[in-house]
Amino acid sequence: MKTIELKNVSKIYKNGVKALDNVSLTVKQGEFIAVMGQSGSGKSTLLQVAGLLDNCTSGQVIINRNDVSSLNKNLLADVRMKSLGFVFQSFHLNSHLRAYENIMVPMLINPEYKTKSEMKERALHLAETVGLSNRIDHYPGELSGGEQQRVAIARALSNNPDFILADEPTGNLDSKNEIAIFDELKRLSTSGKGVLVVSHNDAVKDYADRILIMKDGVLEQ
Ligand SMILES: Nc1ncnc2c1ncn2[C@@H]1O[C@H](COP(=O)(O)OP(=O)(O)O)[C@@H](O)[C@H]1O
Ligand SMILES: [Mg+2]
Repeated sequence: MKTIELKNVSKIYKNGVKALDNVSLTVKQGEFIAVMGQSGSGKSTLLQVAGLLDNCTSGQVIINRNDVSSLNKNLLADVRMKSLGFVFQSFHLNSHLRAYENIMVPMLINPEYKTKSEMKERALHLAETVGLSNRIDHYPGELSGGEQQRVAIARALSNNPDFILADEPTGNLDSKNEIAIFDELKRLSTSGKGVLVVSHNDAVKDYADRILIMKDGVLEQ
């Protein structure tokens, strides 16, 4: 069973703010976990530390049994590439690339994919699975917010990660698209991926297997 484990993780930023205070959490494959809590409570920091985008001040982050503090930069990048997919509130798409090209971006650093046509084929397949087949040639500026977020989800899936980490994925969407995105994330968790979603959107409660509340850096289980 693949897992992301946080053991007694604290994060103190350089300015002295303690954003995470002794947080322990295990995310398993096939599980949809929602972390809720007020703005400034440490939710984004939690996701960044769990996703190896930032390091913690103390404690352990263990991904698929690798204690990440023992990994050098290259191995860390490797774990991130192969095991983790990210989705953000503001989509973070490249506006100069078409939808399918955005989906291809993470494959460019993956030696598993040898040719551009192989990458494109996978990108088109992923676009289809998130319901975007008829939008693959569009640029982000030609897509609705919900469509852009689906491109971002397909991109997060490009290297077939074990886990999807999503930070306020519906923050810029209307309620109809909100539901579509949570539906999509739920589908991914039932298909075997571990899904960790940070949100202050109550709708997420209908999808999560577990709801955890973050308060002043403390994760209430
Ligand atoms: N890069 C940073 N440097 C200093 N303080 C930060 C940084 N990022 C976040 N913080 C602070 O850490 C706390 C938690 O922030 P954050 O994790 O973004 O919370 P949330 O996502 O729940 O709104 C806040 O007090 C915030 O101001
Ligand atoms: Mg945040």
